[in-house]
Amino acid sequence: MMESVATLLARSDSLLQISESAALDTELLLAYVLNVDRTWLKTWPSHQPAAEQTATFEQLLLRRLKGEPIAFIIGTQGFWTLDLNVSPQTLIPRPETELLVETALEIWKLPICRALDLGTGSGAIALALASERPNWQLTAVDSIEGAVQLAEINRQNCQLENVEIYQSDWFREIPKPDGGSKYHLIISNPPYIEAGDPHLQQGDVRFEPESALVSGLDGLHALTHIIRCATDYLEPTGWLLVEHGYQQAADVRDLFSAAGFTSVQTEVDLNFLDRVTLGCLP
Ligand SMILES: C[S@@+](CC[C@H](N)C(=O)[O-])C[C@H]1O[C@@H](n2cnc3c(N)ncnc32)[C@H](O)[C@@H]1O
Repeated sequence: MMESVATLLARSDSLLQISESAALDTELLLAYVLNVDRTWLKTWPSHQPAAEQTATFEQLLLRRLKGEPIAFIIGTQGFWTLDLNVSPQTLIPRPETELLVETALEIWKLPICRALDLGTGSGAIALALASERPNWQLTAVDSIEGAVQLAEINRQNCQLENVEIYQSDWFREIPKPDGGSKYHLIISNPPYIEAGDPHLQQGDVRFEPESALVSGLDGLHALTHIIRCATDYLEPTGWLLVEHGYQQAADVRDLFSAAGFTSVQTEVDLNFLDRVTLGCLP
């Protein structure tokens, strides 16, 4: 028997045990299979998809039931105003990371800006900034070749010319700047979860690579390295902005102060959790 859009959407009940957004997940999967947007589903509840479409939808629903993230199933994730391809080689961009983008846009009002995104993953941060500020020059690096390729595909899809993307272990391949070629902004959402954290065995992160998530026993290895090295690559009055875990803010502020940053402050995300710390070179 042919089933309607409304009946297929009611299958969201089966996802309630594994997802906090079961209804949304189901809409995203059905919209993907039918190649329509979610509004269309609401407009045409009695439409009856073809039998092959229903079968495909059921297969995808099963993958979600096994815990696979929606973004990996449909291959894309919205970030800022962009629709980005994703891959299991790196992190699926998170809504809370938009705070880094917002904060960078707030603190740098001059038209000229050289900005560096360390650990760019899908390119989310660099591409969002590049889309908002066509005059800025963005550099984005990642140590994982597959992430660099993904970010480059996203750059091309977004048709952004003001971003260069290459492979680097943090600052290693970044030319040591001489006067006048340092960065005005360095931005990073590095891995910051403690090795062995039980959350790594739960939910969507089980499908994401450790290289994007874990940073030493205390979760602070990458942050420590980035904060210590950034001073050599920043212009005077340049800013470093990093994302971190909500319980790491005090440690991260201490690292900023020890490295010589001033105006060190932490911003909270939409859930009022400490999420982004920034500081300025004197
Ligand atoms: C938390 S993910 C963030 C990805 C992206 N910036 C975002 O916000 O969605 C951290 C990224 O850092 C990269 N990474 C890990 N170690 C690195 C290193 N030593 N040098 C450069 N990038 C690294 C990972 O491959 C991953 O893409």
